[in-house]
Amino acid sequence: MQNQRQNLAGRIALVTGAGRGLGGAIAIDLARAGADVAICDIDMPALEATCAAVEAAGAQCLALRCDVSSSSEVARLFAAIAGRFGTLHILVNNAALVPNTSVDSERRNQHYAYITTPVPRQSLGFTSTICDAEWHRYWDVNVHGLFYCTREALRLMEPQRDGRIINIASIAGMSAMSAHSPHYCATKGAVIAFTKSVAAEVAGANIFVNAMAPGGVATPEFTQYFEAAGEEKCNQFWQLIPAGRLGTMEEYASMVTYLAGDHYLVGQVISPNGGAVI
Ligand SMILES: NC(=O)c1ccc[n+]([C@@H]2O[C@H](COP(=O)([O-])OP(=O)(O)OC[C@H]3O[C@@H](n4cnc5c(N)ncnc54)[C@H](O)[C@@H]3O)[C@@H](O)[C@H]2O)c1
Repeated sequence: MQNQRQNLAGRIALVTGAGRGLGGAIAIDLARAGADVAICDIDMPALEATCAAVEAAGAQCLALRCDVSSSSEVARLFAAIAGRFGTLHILVNNAALVPNTSVDSERRNQHYAYITTPVPRQSLGFTSTICDAEWHRYWDVNVHGLFYCTREALRLMEPQRDGRIINIASIAGMSAMSAHSPHYCATKGAVIAFTKSVAAEVAGANIFVNAMAPGGVATPEFTQYFEAAGEEKCNQFWQLIPAGRLGTMEEYASMVTYLAGDHYLVGQVISPNGGAVI
């Protein structure tokens, strides 16, 4: 079905980290709105599945391996996009490390128990156990990667005075809802600050930069986490989200498609989150 809110026919979009999860859903939604789509990821089998779905939606798709934390790989990615499509109108900076290892899940369980059940007040001890490598890797992908892609995109968008950049932030960057993952929270806060400064810098050239800061996304991985936690724990957690559920990938993707089209939003942080952060 054609996306009714924005008509992106003739527009060229890039979605980073479009292999699995939200990035794939965003690429497909942009294609349904009429855009042709370049996608990148480090997980090629997942990326090829997204590419097939984008093409099935009627769009052209260019799928390339790229680790966004490498500025030289990002430069090659943008050269390939310019070679294939001639330009870029829409950049969705979605690729990120999200806290989903078993250690992350243990920290998350501990945090959620702490905020949903009466337990003694104490430090949860997360920050004091984060190692240098973990901290730096999050910054390499979530912040440096987002900067490399934005820089390359602006080199194409500034001369044409036309562009939309959507940075995928998180409520982790604007609240204490993800205190279980301080390294992740810090990077998403940086994404929000960078969004605001670049937005003010380039809006005069008709390049509108905004952030979408999701609450919980019902990705297969996050859904699995909640299924494993069991009904009682989930029900306790839903008390923290007035809407009482995670948002679907489609709900978030349609917001990105909106931000990719015609509007008057500059430097805003739009946060679909079911009321988790008001
Ligand atoms: N899942 C949530 O509940 C949630 C909540 C708020 C914000 N977000 C944000 O939404 C975005 C997508 O999250 P998701 O849950 O779909 O994550 P995910 O882990 O399911 O998918 C992330 C994708 O990025 C790719 N990727 C990772 N490192 C990369 C790199 N160096 N270069 C290129 N690609 C790389 C992965 O291979 C994967 O395909 C992220 O920016 C995340 O911070 C997610």
